[in-house]
Amino acid sequence: MKEMGKDGGGYMADVRLTELVRSSGCNAKLPPGDLHDVLGSLPLASDPRLFGGYEKSDDACVYDLGDGRVLIETVDFFPPMVDDPFTFGEIAAANALSDIYAMGGSPDVALSLMCFPSCLDLSVMRSIMLGAMEKAKEAGCVIAGGHTISDREPKFGLSVTAIENKDSVWTNSGAMEGDCLVLTKRLGVGVMMTAHKGGETEATDAIESMRILNKRARDIARGLTVHAATDVTGFSLLGHAYEMADGSDATACISLSSLSFFPEAPELARFGFLPEGRYTNEDYLCDKVMFAPQVEKVYKDLLFSPETSGGLLLAMPEKDAALFIDEFGEPARVIGHIERKSGSRVIVSC
Ligand code: CO
Ligand code: CO
Repeated sequence: MKEMGKDGGGYMADVRLTELVRSSGCNAKLPPGDLHDVLGSLPLASDPRLFGGYEKSDDACVYDLGDGRVLIETVDFFPPMVDDPFTFGEIAAANALSDIYAMGGSPDVALSLMCFPSCLDLSVMRSIMLGAMEKAKEAGCVIAGGHTISDREPKFGLSVTAIENKDSVWTNSGAMEGDCLVLTKRLGVGVMMTAHKGGETEATDAIESMRILNKRARDIARGLTVHAATDVTGFSLLGHAYEMADGSDATACISLSSLSFFPEAPELARFGFLPEGRYTNEDYLCDKVMFAPQVEKVYKDLLFSPETSGGLLLAMPEKDAALFIDEFGEPARVIGHIERKSGSRVIVSC
């Protein structure tokens, strides 16, 4: 292959990946309201072999193979939120694989989606793919191929497939009154990475958190009773809790004091490092979430902010939640519980 750029032509030598993109990670998702409008106007496929998917806003679609097994399929890709290409590949893969874990599955095979600018060295593409392959290997999943197109902004992700027994699939719509809500990662990635893009923090803890697979959380929870599960990503903790509560025809009560944030996140939010998605999420959720009057604005900012590669949110009976926390350890927490449906789908108390 021809050597490019070393003498000024071709690629930019020290370009920061995050400088090439407008928004990054799951913050680059379309606003949930827009997405619902479009999906609501489509003649969606109704196939008896298809369950989950669009109608219940679940993490992945589930396709019945007719022999007691199902295919679980999902796709996720986004622009980089970090400058190191290998780390970006790891995070994009962990985030895409997570939707399989959120369905209780174990990823089997994946295809990659890559958008790549001609101004970047091809070694950057290679590093992104190596990072993704490393995570896929850790997940026991094989990346079997993919598709690459030239684009002004870099973007990367995976479409992932798992084969599971039909009766072992989790949905986000089975939460029951009295269940505890367990969250397995810290919150504040969106704020941390907005500040990171602005050169305000190294965000080492948030980057490390995004790299972690939800595999261990899924594996431990598989030995316990799970009534509903999802992962916390672009629609924020409140958005994903809303989808779970709405799908389960219940109300999710979240207690602010039990949430775990990256230590710098509240201060950075107070300084105004808020991802764009924070506002579109609130537009969609404002009439669905009720805050206790004492909840400070900075925590509303954090709770409406998109997360990227966030933790699993699990609705489990109290004793199973306790067993889960015992075995998983930090930073998993019981962050609230499920109540009988009341006026608001999500209630945030202090
Ligand atoms: Co998801
Ligand atoms: Co997703």
